[in-house]
Amino acid sequence: MSHVEEDHEGTRRDFLYYATAGAGAVTAGAAIWPLVNQMNPSADVLALSSIRVDVSAIEPGTQLTVKWLGKPVFIRRRTEEEIQAAREVDLADLPDDIARNENLGEVDASDSNRSMDEAGEWLVMMGVCTHLGCVPLGDGAGDFGGWFCPCHGSHYDTSGRIRKGPAPTNLPVPVAEFVDETTILLG
Ligand code: FES
Repeated sequence: MSHVEEDHEGTRRDFLYYATAGAGAVTAGAAIWPLVNQMNPSADVLALSSIRVDVSAIEPGTQLTVKWLGKPVFIRRRTEEEIQAAREVDLADLPDDIARNENLGEVDASDSNRSMDEAGEWLVMMGVCTHLGCVPLGDGAGDFGGWFCPCHGSHYDTSGRIRKGPAPTNLPVPVAEFVDETTILLG
């Protein structure tokens, strides 16, 4: 066998070897992918950490409760009366004078610092009592026309601010924004 023929043989053997190894790698890759995909935390977290809510069917004076990150979120479309009642409150009367609005940082609990829009029509809050975590009743419940937690008697006003009872803080406003006229993005 000449040198030329030997080199050719060697090259061919190497090629077959790599081709086989390459096919094996592809197969292994295909088998591993679904596992990696399932374990990818960012995909899971992304799916859960933000949701879009269609609010087009919510009439003034009613609310929608959606589940987000395992907790209820109240989305209320307030009436003029509810907005006015919330905006007339003297901040000195509030047990908790911080807005508790994740979109704004630490600002005072004026109603305009808690509602989503300038007119104050939309209020979005976690539906979890800040005392021990019960879900407050809505639709004008309690002594202040907002929400009432029957577990130990906490009364929230039409802005979701604690006014009476053992709950220490206002109902928190989560990260939320309107992405179009009828869709709210939570998270
Ligand atoms: Fe709401 Fe105690 S959990 S008042």
